[in-house]
Amino acid sequence: MATTLESAATTVDAAKVAALRAQLPATARTAYFNAGTNGPLPRVAQDALVAAASKELEVGRIVPGVYEGGWERNARVKGVLAGMVGADADELALTHSTNEGLNAVLMGIDWQRGDEVVTTQLEHPGLFAPLMLLAHRFGVIVRMADIGDGGGDVPGALEAHVGPRTRAVALSHVMWSTGAVVPLAEVGAMARRRGVLSVVDGAQGTGQVALDLHASGIDAYAMPGQKWLCGPEATGALFLRRDRLADVKPTYLRYATYDVSGFLTPWAGAQRYEIGEFYGPAVLALEASLLWQRDEVGLDWAYARVAALGQRCRAGLAALGGVTVASPADRMAGLVCFQVAGMAPPDVTARLYEQGMTIRYVVYPPGPSVARVSCGWWNTEDEIDALVAAIGELAHAASTA
Ligand SMILES: Cc1ncc(COP(=O)(O)O)c(C=O)c1O
Repeated sequence: MATTLESAATTVDAAKVAALRAQLPATARTAYFNAGTNGPLPRVAQDALVAAASKELEVGRIVPGVYEGGWERNARVKGVLAGMVGADADELALTHSTNEGLNAVLMGIDWQRGDEVVTTQLEHPGLFAPLMLLAHRFGVIVRMADIGDGGGDVPGALEAHVGPRTRAVALSHVMWSTGAVVPLAEVGAMARRRGVLSVVDGAQGTGQVALDLHASGIDAYAMPGQKWLCGPEATGALFLRRDRLADVKPTYLRYATYDVSGFLTPWAGAQRYEIGEFYGPAVLALEASLLWQRDEVGLDWAYARVAALGQRCRAGLAALGGVTVASPADRMAGLVCFQVAGMAPPDVTARLYEQGMTIRYVVYPPGPSVARVSCGWWNTEDEIDALVAAIGELAHAASTA
């Protein structure tokens, strides 16, 4: 009976995946395993972008109502995203990337020489670089916790470096070079208990794993639009918890980031951190992609499928001779990182692309050098199995070369 029910569920899933894949044309070109860099664009996003860009061309970019419409559009998109990540819309600022959000927070703290920030050795340059700038510009001391592959006690490892001068802890939600998913609520609780700001690089977390920012206790969380959310590039958002707004000063001011009736009084919500102008067609494309994932794909279904495919991929790779898996089995979702003995990660990536499979490599010390598979909900079980088989053949060839 259980088997019959299971196989019925599998058939329904397969039909759903096939229908959704038809809306992601890039998935027909190669087996697409690279949402960790850029997700596949859904047709609805492209349609929204083209319609808006054509309207600008034909009707004009600034005709009556367009300017105000832009503010309404931005507020609406923040509302949709807020609902997906467990935040309120006025705690979100639109950004053009994860990196922009991280910079907006880190540069907004009134650092004093000798203040400290705690991070991990597995961070992406998007976080390392602004932390190094803090050291260079303000004399901030950056303490680096060694968290191994990220599968152990990350909050404890961070806390061991928290001292009287620590102002913030800053780390990724999902580690880009191991796929480890950090327990956000435990980090948030530790940071609160120690009275420090928690700043999270959500580049790999947003859209890959379920997110409830309010429940997490995290203070700041920077998100990209172009990765697991399948939006266009140059889109993103920054969450700043309402009760932390006063701790982070806006570094750049522009229209609608401060109240023109007062002298540099920042806007009431996180909109105060918005930098520069936004390209309307791209924001509309992000909105279309978010609505499609929320209403047609289904977020819970997507998160569960990403995790299941990640486990399938990891188990397949772990069983291969000559392959070392870098992702902790009980702490990962869809990012699976691995090494093939005798082959550099860029070569593994290139050989797989020749066979119609798009993955990527991550080579950035002090993190591990790995090839990385991003298992998206749009991938099929057959694609995962074919990828594992192809990696097995590469490993075999490398061992006999
Ligand atoms: C962990 C992590 N942080 C930051 C970034 C940079 O993201 P963005 O291009 O949105 O600034 C990436 C992108 O690969 C990433 O994986």
